Amino acid sequence: MKIAVIGTGNIGAAYARALAEAKYEVVIGHREPGKAAAVAQEIGSNAEGSGIVAAFKLADLVLLALPYPAIAEVLAGAGDLTSKVLVDVSNPVSADFQDLTVGLTTSAAEQIQAAAPSARVVKAFNTIFAALVPAQARQSKQLQVFIAGDDAAATAQVSKLAKTLGFAPVNAGPLCNSRFLEPVGMMNIQFGFFLGVGPSTAPAWLHI
Ligand SMILES: NC(=O)c1ccc[n+]([C@@H]2O[C@H](COP(=O)([O-])OP(=O)(O)OC[C@H]3O[C@@H](n4cnc5c(N)ncnc54)[C@H](OP(=O)(O)O)[C@@H]3O)[C@@H](O)[C@H]2O)c1
Repeated sequence: MKIAVIGTGNIGAAYARALAEAKYEVVIGHREPGKAAAVAQEIGSNAEGSGIVAAFKLADLVLLALPYPAIAEVLAGAGDLTSKVLVDVSNPVSADFQDLTVGLTTSAAEQIQAAAPSARVVKAFNTIFAALVPAQARQSKQLQVFIAGDDAAATAQVSKLAKTLGFAPVNAGPLCNSRFLEPVGMMNIQFGFFLGVGPSTAPAWLHI
């Protein structure tokens, strides 16, 4: 199965590497194809780099490793998105990381679904710092990945992917529950970067 990862930053590079190591075929897309190719070359086996449109075309499941404000424009130029599974990992944060710019009655994920109505958007991984994407960084702890979506087959696909990467997928309900998951991601950023914990922290839901 071929997976596209759009973006070569902290999250894009981390998931591209983790997915390639898990034996998925990964195509990394970037607005500068040379940048994607360089990251792919560094990863080695199972990874290739391309432009953004080509990456979307090559894969049925696309991880959007982009800042939230860039996503709508990228999707508008991405070609036919019918039935594609778009994994939204974003936390729509302000420039100083102190506020969410979207919320309460909607979410980044719902806005992305509205921008790409023929695609199937799944919210996932927004509470996992890039530093914890490599399995060895988790030191045998199984971190929860909250997954919200309206399409059962798409959420099942993303749950399987999370499991393959060594996470514990948690069904977080319909896509509109992203309104609640994105603030959890924001609280994680507060713990990680403003309350002294560092980026080796992740939230877990306990059932007693
Ligand atoms: N970092 C984390 O630990 C973490 C954890 C959970 C969720 N997230 C979410 O993951 C997403 C990516 O975060 P990140 O930390 O990987 O960010 P990042 O390191 O800044 O990387 C962003 C990537 O998006 C590309 N990009 C930016 N603007 C673009 C545009 N207008 N069109 C096309 N490509 C564009 C950048 O390209 P250039 O290199 O050319 O700028 C870069 O490759 C964000 O939505 C964030 O909220 C991050």
